[in-house]
Parts: sequence; structure tokens; C-alpha cells
Amino acid sequence: MFPQHFTILILIVILSSRMKEVEPEAVQSFPGCTNKCGNITIPYPFGIEENCYMATQYMVNCTTLTMFSNETFKLLDISLDGYMRGFFPMAYACYNSTHMLSGLDSFVWMGRFSLSSTKNILTSVGCDSRADIMTMDGEDSIVVGIARSECDFLQDGDCSGYGCRQVPIPPMVTRFRIRSQRNTGEIGNWSFNNCSYAFLVERDQYTFYKTDIDNMLNRSLPVVLEWTVGHNDCEHSQKNKTTYVCTENSVCIDSINYGYNCRCVLGYEGNPYLPNGCQDINECVGDLNDCIYDCINTNGSYHCSCPFGMTGDGSKHGTGCTYNLKATKSLGKSLYTERDYLIQILDDQLKKDGINEYIKYVAKIAKDCIELEGKKRPNMNTVKEELNQMRQLFVKISLCE
Ligand SMILES: *[C@@H]1O[C@H](CO)[C@@H](O)[C@H](O)[C@H]1NC(C)=O
Ligand SMILES: *[C@@H]1O[C@H](CO)[C@@H](O)[C@H](O)[C@H]1NC(C)=O
Ligand SMILES: *[C@@H]1O[C@H](CO)[C@@H](O)[C@H](O)[C@H]1NC(C)=O
Ligand SMILES: *[C@@H]1O[C@H](CO)[C@@H](O)[C@H](O)[C@H]1NC(C)=O
Ligand SMILES: *[C@@H]1O[C@H](CO)[C@@H](O)[C@H](O)[C@H]1NC(C)=O
Ligand SMILES: *[C@@H]1O[C@H](CO)[C@@H](O)[C@H](O)[C@H]1NC(C)=O
Ligand SMILES: *[C@@H]1O[C@H](CO)[C@@H](O)[C@H](O)[C@H]1NC(C)=O
Ligand SMILES: *[C@@H]1O[C@H](CO)[C@@H](O)[C@H](O)[C@H]1NC(C)=O
Ligand SMILES: *[C@@H]1O[C@H](CO)[C@@H](O)[C@H](O)[C@H]1NC(C)=O
Repeated sequence: MFPQHFTILILIVILSSRMKEVEPEAVQSFPGCTNKCGNITIPYPFGIEENCYMATQYMVNCTTLTMFSNETFKLLDISLDGYMRGFFPMAYACYNSTHMLSGLDSFVWMGRFSLSSTKNILTSVGCDSRADIMTMDGEDSIVVGIARSECDFLQDGDCSGYGCRQVPIPPMVTRFRIRSQRNTGEIGNWSFNNCSYAFLVERDQYTFYKTDIDNMLNRSLPVVLEWTVGHNDCEHSQKNKTTYVCTENSVCIDSINYGYNCRCVLGYEGNPYLPNGCQDINECVGDLNDCIYDCINTNGSYHCSCPFGMTGDGSKHGTGCTYNLKATKSLGKSLYTERDYLIQILDDQLKKDGINEYIKYVAKIAKDCIELEGKKRPNMNTVKEELNQMRQLFVKISLCE
């Protein structure tokens, strides 16, 4: 009875330590839909083809890589944590000593999306210049930020006022106009700077260089937008199961903007907007667990186990695995009475790492002893010597207990 039981255990140990599962490629887009535009991943609720996006606002034009009306936003990437990055046209104004010669305002209407107020900053580059951002509610516009900059002491890397200045922007901006202007309406005192520039940029993604004063036209700087789903906050959205979009194993996250976001619960990863989108993370693959020996993956979590003959929680940060005298004795005993096929299994395994030194040792003695019946029977002194060593080991183990 016991020997068979032991064989099964050994096999489990061997199998579980050998199985290295291949992690499935995370499904990001709606099933059957193109999931990439060039090298940009398009996760659902976003999509390229009809029936691939949640609503038309989430449609990405893969030809132009743009979103929103009149192609104002050139997409860089979309992340499932509710952000997307891209480029907006830069606002500028160019002058001679008496007149404004050319200019462009950056006008954007993002529908249900909004500028991230924490991740972007409004920047003005130019001498005696200002950058205005006007948020628009209907036809009214409110000037919400003015960044001025003068040119007395230009310095590379310094955007604190000379030739460059930055101001934060307010939250929940979905529609805005950015304008660059020269306070004097002409080149004025700084003849080397004939254009002024105004743009939003992701914080820490723009470093001012003195040469930027000469020409910044055609520069593309990344801006971060926030995206959400739904039309209400979590509390209200969750009440209507037909319109609530967060799928199983995910939770609802309130947004300061219109709508909400979904996120896979701890221990799961993937796309919380797709059916079966949140998949269990197999912590037993790679460095995601702190098991000393064996790791057993569970839904949303994992636990560690100790090899036969040892007890503990198996975790590096817990009680670990320590030798268990009683179990070890049983192991030794069962090895004495097992038959050849067990020896074969152990023999193969002895050549590998993964079975701990102690089991190797017990197995070796067991093998020698069983072979007492055969021709390769070791002489009695050798056996006595080895049994003595084993006894000493048992003493050591009992001291450890
Ligand atoms: C996509 O490719 C472009 C160049 O073709 C590169 O600049 C950009 O960093 C790439 N984006 C990603 C997300 O890999
Ligand atoms: C994408 O943009 C191109 C160029 O403006 C346009 O011809 C095409 O119809 C757009 N595709 C879709 C699906 O709107
Ligand atoms: C973009 O479209 C809006 C209306 O859809 C329009 O008011 C605005 O002038 C357009 N902007 C540009 C740069 O064409
Ligand atoms: C500036 O440009 C305007 C418009 O083109 C022109 O009338 C004016 O003469 C220019 N001023 C100088 C000083 O070149
Ligand atoms: C610009 O030039 C005028 C006259 O040359 C001078 O009075 C004024 O102080 C200058 N302004 C600045 C900001 O240097
Ligand atoms: C700005 O000045 C440079 C020379 O100083 C000139 O080449 C360039 O055309 C000017 N740009 C504009 C938009 O006037
Ligand atoms: C901006 O880019 C366009 C096209 O790539 C080019 O024709 C134009 O000369 C560039 N302008 C500047 C000021 O670099
Ligand atoms: C849930 O939303 C659907 C679609 O908007 C609507 O028809 C239905 O009446 C709503 N149910 C409740 C209980 O509010
Ligand atoms: C994990 O969850 C899936 C689906 O809910 C279920 O079929 C499976 O048996 C669970 N696995 C474990 C180890 O609990």
C-alpha cells in the first residue's frame, strides 16, 4: 500500500517541477478583428473594422492612424489602463518686425475623451510669447492657462521662463483651442526669434534647447489622453447589467471624467472589456512566486508545497520547507520495500537537479540495499557504513525539528 503511494508522490514531484507552461498571447482586440495598426496594438473597446469597436468613438483609422473628426489626433499607443498617447498639431505664430505673417491654432474636439491634466503640461516656446489654452463649452471659451516666456537668459534644459515656460492644465478638458501669440505682435527686441510655439506635451517628454527658438515647426511631441467607457459612474453603471461592460474577474474604476474604466482583479491579467478577457496569471511561471520547491497555480493566486518528507508553507518569505522526521522515516522504509521500477525512476532522477540532496541520499542507500538480493550486492561493511551515515543524518534532522 505505502510503496505505491510513495511512487505516485515522487512522480507528482517530478512532473510538477518539469512542467513549464507556455503563457498564452494575451487577447487584446475583439475576437476575429485586426489587433494591430502597424506596430500599435489596438485593444478593445478600440477597433479598426466595423463591429470591432464598442462604439464609433473608439474607431481607429488604420490608414492614417488617426482618431476624431478632421484627423487631429495621430495615435502613438493605447493602454488598457485608460490612457492613449499621440500627437496634436502644434500651434504657432510667425512675425516680421511689424506684422504677423503666418500662424495656426491647434483646435481639437475629442468627443468623450479628455486631456490628462496630470500627465500633460502646456508649453510656450518663443521670446515675449504666450501660450493660451481655451476650453470650450458650447461657443464660450475660457482661458485656462497662459504660459509666457522671455529671452534674456536662454539656457538649454531650462524651461522656467526664458524662451520657454510651462503651466499645468485643468482636468476634464475634452475640447480646446491652443494659441501662440507674441505680446507685441511683432519680432520686437529678439530678432533671432521670428516664430512663437504653443503645445501640450507629456510631462518630462520635452527638454528645451536654445536652438528650438529658431525652429520648432513640424516637431511632434506626445500628448496623453484619458479614455473611459459608459456614461455614468461605477455605482450607477453597475446597476444596469445590460450596459455595464466590465467582464468577469474585473472591477469598475471610477474616473474623474465621463464614464468609468475596468480593471482585472489581482491575480488576473488581460483585457477586462472582453468576455473571458481577464485570464488567471500563472504565478508558477517565471519569477512571480516565492516558492522554494513546488508551486501550485490557482485561480487568481498560487501556493507553494514542500517535497515529500518536508513540511512548511514552502515559501521563501514564510516557514519554508524543513525536514520532517516522521515522514522521512516512512520514506526510507518505503524505499527498502519498493521494487525495481521505482529504482529506475529514482535512478533517472538522481542524475537531475531538482530532487533535494537528502532524497538522493536515501534513494541511493535504498538502491544498494535492494540490490543485496542481486549479484551486485555490496559487502556488508559498506552497507553498515552507509546505514550508519543515514542514522547520523536522521539525528541531524531530529535536531533541526
Ligand atoms: C512603431 O514604429 C515606429 C517606427 O516605425 C517607432 O518609432 C515606434 O516607437 C514604434 N512604436 C512601438 C509602440 O513600438
Ligand atoms: C481613413 O482615412 C482615409 C484618409 O483620410 C479615408 O480615405 C478613409 O475612408 C478612412 N477610413 C475610414 C474607415 O474611415
Ligand atoms: C475640425 O472640425 C470641427 C467641426 O467638426 C471644425 O469646427 C474645426 O474648424 C475643424 N478644424 C480644422 C483644423 O479643420
Ligand atoms: C512684414 O510683413 C508685412 C506683410 O507681408 C509687410 O507688409 C511688411 O512690410 C513687412 N515688414 C517688414 C519690416 O519687412
Ligand atoms: C526692448 O527694447 C527697448 C528699446 O530698445 C527697450 O526699452 C526695452 O527695455 C526692451 N525690452 C526688453 C524686455 O528687453
Ligand atoms: C524666420 O527667420 C529666418 C531667418 O532668420 C527665415 O529664414 C525664415 O523664413 C523666417 N520664418 C518665417 C516663418 O518668417
Ligand atoms: C514641415 O514639413 C513639411 C513636409 O514634411 C515641409 O514641406 C516643410 O518645409 C517643413 N517646415 C519646416 C519649417 O521645417
Ligand atoms: C438598462 O439599459 C438599457 C439600455 O440603455 C435600457 O433599455 C434599460 O431600461 C436599462 N435598465 C434599467 C434597469 O435601467
Ligand atoms: C478556475 O476557474 C475556472 C472557471 O471559473 C474553472 O473552470 C476552473 O476549474 C478553476 N480552476 C481552479 C484550479 O480552481
